[in-house]
Amino acid sequence: MYPTARFSVAPMLDWTDRHCRYFHRLMSKEALLYTEMVTTGAIIHGKGDFLAYNEEEHPLALQLGGSNPVDLARCAKLAAERGYDEINLNVGCPSDRVQNGMFGACLMGEADLVAQCVAAMREVVDIPVTVKTRIGIDDQDSYEFLTHFIQTVSEKGGCDNFTIHARKAWLKGLSPKENREIPELDYPRVYQLKQDFPQLTMAINGGIKTFDEMEQHLQHLDGVMVGREAYQSPYLMAEVDQRLFGSDRPVMKRREVVEAMYPYIERQLANGSYLGHITRHMLGLFQSMPGARQWRRYISENAHKPGAGIEVVQQALAKIPAELDV
Ligand SMILES: Cc1cc2nc3c(=O)[nH]c(=O)nc-3n(C[C@H](O)[C@H](O)[C@H](O)COP(=O)(O)O)c2cc1C
Repeated sequence: MYPTARFSVAPMLDWTDRHCRYFHRLMSKEALLYTEMVTTGAIIHGKGDFLAYNEEEHPLALQLGGSNPVDLARCAKLAAERGYDEINLNVGCPSDRVQNGMFGACLMGEADLVAQCVAAMREVVDIPVTVKTRIGIDDQDSYEFLTHFIQTVSEKGGCDNFTIHARKAWLKGLSPKENREIPELDYPRVYQLKQDFPQLTMAINGGIKTFDEMEQHLQHLDGVMVGREAYQSPYLMAEVDQRLFGSDRPVMKRREVVEAMYPYIERQLANGSYLGHITRHMLGLFQSMPGARQWRRYISENAHKPGAGIEVVQQALAKIPAELDV
């Protein structure tokens, strides 16, 4: 079985792009990082390279959105050839656009099809094929519904690794954002699932913020996946290896993290990237420190100006009081 990711950063559309992942990777060598969801349609028909990433990002999982086994297998194969470490199928995203294309959370009601999708991908790649799902959809929120889904996808599809977002999705009436807040979290249900399927690797996701909470979950499950907190308070990443993987490397200071980004930023700017596309992921780094607001504001006001370069980040860093050893 694939070594368990004790900690991962959740796939987040528009957030966990390659710049964000590079930034997170600087702080944690051990975390498993996920791409944003990429649809099979984008990979197969889209213009541009939707599979591009930086070598430094490993271990890296590609999250696919789709429900056509042939297309998914084709994309999984391409991704494996490109060196991704895992393929993950999205069975959790509730947005309308996604429902129309028949993928995301609505697939929870199509367990046999998900099994076929997983089986088709597993047939053509050697890397793990995993599934990220919810605990239910709409009125289909019984424990039996969830176990039927897991049993079908594991037995018929051969999937042995699941990440469970511990709340159901309301497919009608709630926005994707509301669907991450309104349906209640039910951690005990996910713990129960792991007890009933001890042979499967299972990670839990949803509302996890602190290392104490992560350690608590890890007593019941194989892994924790953190989304919004890792993005909005990214300095959390700096302690992941020490707190969850037993690393004795010194924890990086926030300033060191910024400075370690300089060579990457220079390289990316030289290749035509915009500064703001990189720095937007770094805005929360000094969260709740003196100078945090000025850091954030300076970058927000200047990083999008034409020709903005590394000096914007240096000036922003200068807003953090020099005597502050952070
Ligand atoms: C901006 C944003 C984009 C997201 N995009 C995806 C996505 O592409 N695929 C996916 O499976 N989940 C997506 N999610 C859901 C997260 O992966 C995660 O399941 C959810 O935020 C709950 O975890 P958290 O409470 O730790 O944030 C997204 C969440 C956010 C906030």
